[in-house]
Amino acid sequence: MSRHWRHKVEVAVLSFVGITGFLFLLQNDKKGPVLKEAMETPVTIPPIITGRPKPIAECQRNVTVANISGFAGLPDHIKDFLRYKHCKEFPLLLDMPDKCGGPDNSYDTFLLLAIKSSPGNYERREIIRKTWGQERTYAGVNIRRLFLSGQVANARDAKKTNQLLKIEAEENGDILQWDFLDSFFNLTLKQVLFHSWMEARCPGVRFVFNGDDDVFANTDNIIHYLLDVPGAGDEHLFVGQLITNVGPIREKWSKYYVPEQVTASKSYPPYCAGGGILMSGYTSRTIYKESLGIELFPIDDVYLGMCLEKAGLKPSSHMGIRTVGVRVPSSRLESFDPCYYKELLLVHRFVPYEMLVMWRAIHRPNLICGKRMEVYQSL
Ligand SMILES: *[C@@H]1O[C@H](CO)[C@@H](O)[C@H](O)[C@H]1NC(C)=O
Ligand SMILES: *[C@@H]1O[C@H](CO)[C@@H](O)[C@H](O)[C@H]1NC(C)=O
Ligand SMILES: *[C@@H]1O[C@H](CO)[C@@H](O)[C@H](O)[C@H]1NC(C)=O
Repeated sequence: MSRHWRHKVEVAVLSFVGITGFLFLLQNDKKGPVLKEAMETPVTIPPIITGRPKPIAECQRNVTVANISGFAGLPDHIKDFLRYKHCKEFPLLLDMPDKCGGPDNSYDTFLLLAIKSSPGNYERREIIRKTWGQERTYAGVNIRRLFLSGQVANARDAKKTNQLLKIEAEENGDILQWDFLDSFFNLTLKQVLFHSWMEARCPGVRFVFNGDDDVFANTDNIIHYLLDVPGAGDEHLFVGQLITNVGPIREKWSKYYVPEQVTASKSYPPYCAGGGILMSGYTSRTIYKESLGIELFPIDDVYLGMCLEKAGLKPSSHMGIRTVGVRVPSSRLESFDPCYYKELLLVHRFVPYEMLVMWRAIHRPNLICGKRMEVYQSL
């Protein structure tokens, strides 16, 4: 492990030195973002209100699912999914009602970062706050940040992590926490609850970034991209790494195993990989409305695809979003080339220290990058 990391660090350092030197000889890319703006001071955070959760009748497990043929032989998490999939309402434990300055002012929030984060992922949240997830005004528009969380399974750990989230919420004003088990098969629930929260608290937000807490999102580039999108959030937009022509994995060992008892369908609608998705406020509201009539499905990104399909909307691909298998022309770039990451909108699988190093690197005033890097489609 440590050798692996040491190697990574070495590669990173060598790449910085080597590549910046090399690229110094190349011409500057005039279309790059204006770096001056990148580090504007963060905005003040509205006070947190941790009111008592509004009473919601506790959702009862569905015992009848045990009658489904083959139920007894299913893995526990799938059994649980089937028992509770009808439960779509859970109380908020931590709320941020003023995240967007109240519903009427929420039109001023250009980009809301909604990052799914399990309670224990403190380090990831801290680094995101310091790097790409800073709440700031960039290129004249406002970026706001929220982490979406549930509760951990073990009651003793939950006591601690709930304290942690409360402290974070008070210090940073960026936690939404619901009273449900934060598990992989409950990610769709988290997604649906977020859209419902948006509807109430931030209905006017222009664009939403929805993603995981282990991605590196170049929010500067995202803003420049979104500023060019017509309609300022009032038209359909749903972009990411597009996945088409796939269906449920029926192998029991897989994390993504979805048995026939969950869906008999052999295919999924087109969808975008859930690691990082950009959508308009319009599309977020549409997903909310559709979600009311669509049963929960355990894979969250597929579920969003289902909502879009029902609404007659299409997900699309953005070349700059790579959530699965980044493949670049050479091992040199694959390592840690800031110029490469500067061009992208989002890359999956960064550990916290890498995010910090890379965020600093792409904002170095003396970083000179050549023409747009060639990037190969990985799927
Ligand atoms: C409980 O499960 C059965 C069998 O799948 C289903 O027919 C029924 O609609 C479920 N009940 C609720 C409340 O979801
Ligand atoms: C489920 O199976 C049990 C035992 O076979 C039976 O008594 C019960 O009526 C069944 N429930 C439903 C809703 O089919
Ligand atoms: C989802 O959360 C509910 C509420 O905490 C829990 O009862 C259920 O077991 C969870 N489902 C899964 C698949 O983890």
